[in-house]
Amino acid sequence: MRILSLESSCDETACAVVEPNQDGTVRVLSDVVSSQAGMHGRFGGVVPEIASRHHLLNIIPVLERALADAGVGLDRIDGVAVTRGPGLVGALLVALQAGKAIAYARGLPLVGVHHLEGHLLAAFLRAPGENDPPPPFPHLGLLVSGGHSCLVRVEDFGRYQVLGTTRDDAAGEAFDKVAKLLGLGYPGGPAIDQLAGQGSPTAFRLPRAMRGPRAGLDFSFSGLKTAMAAHLAAGPPQDKKRLADLCASFQAAVVEQLVRKTELALTRKAETPERALVLSGGVACNRGLRAALRDLANRRGLPFFVAPPRWCTDNAAMIGCAGYHRLRRGERADWTLNAAASLPL
Ligand code: KG4
Ligand code: ZN
Repeated sequence: MRILSLESSCDETACAVVEPNQDGTVRVLSDVVSSQAGMHGRFGGVVPEIASRHHLLNIIPVLERALADAGVGLDRIDGVAVTRGPGLVGALLVALQAGKAIAYARGLPLVGVHHLEGHLLAAFLRAPGENDPPPPFPHLGLLVSGGHSCLVRVEDFGRYQVLGTTRDDAAGEAFDKVAKLLGLGYPGGPAIDQLAGQGSPTAFRLPRAMRGPRAGLDFSFSGLKTAMAAHLAAGPPQDKKRLADLCASFQAAVVEQLVRKTELALTRKAETPERALVLSGGVACNRGLRAALRDLANRRGLPFFVAPPRWCTDNAAMIGCAGYHRLRRGERADWTLNAAASLPL
């Protein structure tokens, strides 16, 4: 079964063609992402109306490129998967309507995918010829992106239990807002990651949030952002060393909280303990976080999985993977399928 998948929930227009392997992973035959980040940079964040308009301009070229890269025409596609939410509704509608139109015109089965399910399954994507084994079930997923931060117990494909979530900003959102204060532009995660490598993580004292007995497995990043704002009251630092130290100290505080909560989730009583740790979402590109979670997994004797960076940030291949497993289980969307700005996993 060859799946065509489309994604446009935020500022990336993406289309992919994937095919299942025997072991639950999917082979990515093509994977095209057209990012508008440059378009939104000068506004310091994604402008929904601009995003929708650019998705409209990009969707057909991105689709044509994905089919050409995979070396197939629409006549060789067996099913269509589209992101149905959560995200910017005007942005979501573009890929959703394109997917619907293709499925309708070609008489193909259609399925709607939750964007976060896509992220959670990114570790199941394989390049052609790659055959690393997939994460075993059940596993613990830490999903950290620009819009979401959550700890999820993944029982199986399509069976998710959210254990903890952020009470305010998402981890990526905190990176982006702090980067703006530091004068580093949008999206700021990669810039902070880069500079953090040159600074000292103990140079600035920043709060270690959500330690109280009632904090449970939830996250909070807004206090950290406020603490950074206090250090930056006089504007972005002019001194390179100070800038690098601020980046390193901020990143260390975010990573500390993410690792602490993930460890707490792994130590709770579960009838069947998780058999692996899986990291996903755009912030999973962060080198400090990748290294710290790998360490945690080693300490707990668990295998660690994280997709290569291009599949951690928004892409359509992950939507194709989740969509394939939904279609395989017999799920079908009808023509009333609609976009939803917020949607429970
Ligand atoms: O998953 P994603 O592409 O989009 C959402 O679904 O939100 O995640 C984008 C987020 C942005 O906030 C960006 O700053 C962050 O991921 N990000 C990073 C890094 N690369 C991307 N954050 C920290 N370090 C990075 N290397
Ligand atoms: Zn995303």
